[in-house]
Amino acid sequence: MNLSGKVIWITGASSGIGEAITYALAKEGCKLILSSRRIEELNRVRGNLKLADKDVLILPIDLEQHQHTDEWVKRVMDNFNRIDILINNGGISQKSYALATDPVVERKIMDVNYFGNVALSKAVARIMQQQKNGKIAVISSIIGRFGLPDLSTYSASKHALYGFYDSFRLEVKDDNIKILIVSPGFINTNVAINAVKGDGNLVNENSPAMEKGMKTNVFAKKFVSTLKSNKNHKYIGKKEIYAVPFKMIFPNTFYNLMLKMSKKNK
Ligand SMILES: NC(=O)c1ccc[n+]([C@@H]2O[C@H](COP(=O)([O-])OP(=O)(O)OC[C@H]3O[C@@H](n4cnc5c(N)ncnc54)[C@H](OP(=O)(O)O)[C@@H]3O)[C@@H](O)[C@H]2O)c1
Repeated sequence: MNLSGKVIWITGASSGIGEAITYALAKEGCKLILSSRRIEELNRVRGNLKLADKDVLILPIDLEQHQHTDEWVKRVMDNFNRIDILINNGGISQKSYALATDPVVERKIMDVNYFGNVALSKAVARIMQQQKNGKIAVISSIIGRFGLPDLSTYSASKHALYGFYDSFRLEVKDDNIKILIVSPGFINTNVAINAVKGDGNLVNENSPAMEKGMKTNVFAKKFVSTLKSNKNHKYIGKKEIYAVPFKMIFPNTFYNLMLKMSKKNK
């Protein structure tokens, strides 16, 4: 698929993976809608793009407030009159044991990572249905294929994306809407710093796994080449992505290994 001139909406464009994807897509000559909560960070990213003003829309959104999705979609349609691709990437992580996590925090993580994500996709898919064309790329995680301590609700939200989009892909096939799920391994972003603790406060501390993770520009290059392909799913990361097939083939050995590793890291 040639991406030049395509109207592409990226959520979580203010930082990390979404920011790197934005730069990669700008080089492909796309028209971009940049969304997340922090308008000043979106403007910083926009300032790094060599695109004409008419080809970029800054649209602040809070995925937790997903009752507003139709208004957001209207803003995009008023500006570009079509949406070729949605990259549903915005999300938050967690660092807390389940028994120490307030239900309000669990609800917030699910609202942002799952309900907000799905509500936006459904609103955009209705436009794509009329266009008889479109693609929705969703950023899940390898943690959407297995669990780890401190990540129970995050892991649940990313598993839930698989269930929804594997079903949705079959439902929208005849409308010529394609669904791509991308599951990153460990990517060197601020995701661990921006994660929430059990009481809802930010972690504000990086994790060694993220620090050693794949660089965002390397991720973005692989992501864009996957976006151009006809793939339904792709894992992108370093050797940690092999944990997924390992768990499928040796589930009990995998569990014992994870237990040993989590005890060592305590
Ligand atoms: N880094 C990894 O190792 C890794 C691995 C697997 C999956 N992922 C997934 O990749 C995606 C991007 O994360 P990242 O690693 O790039 O981390 P990041 O640097 O913390 O970026 C997260 C992005 O999501 C946005 N966001 C957070 N809460 C939001 C909300 N309520 N409404 C709208 N936007 C919101 C943030 O922008 P604002 O703060 O401006 O709203 C930011 O742009 C996430 O879905 C994450 O779960 C990351």
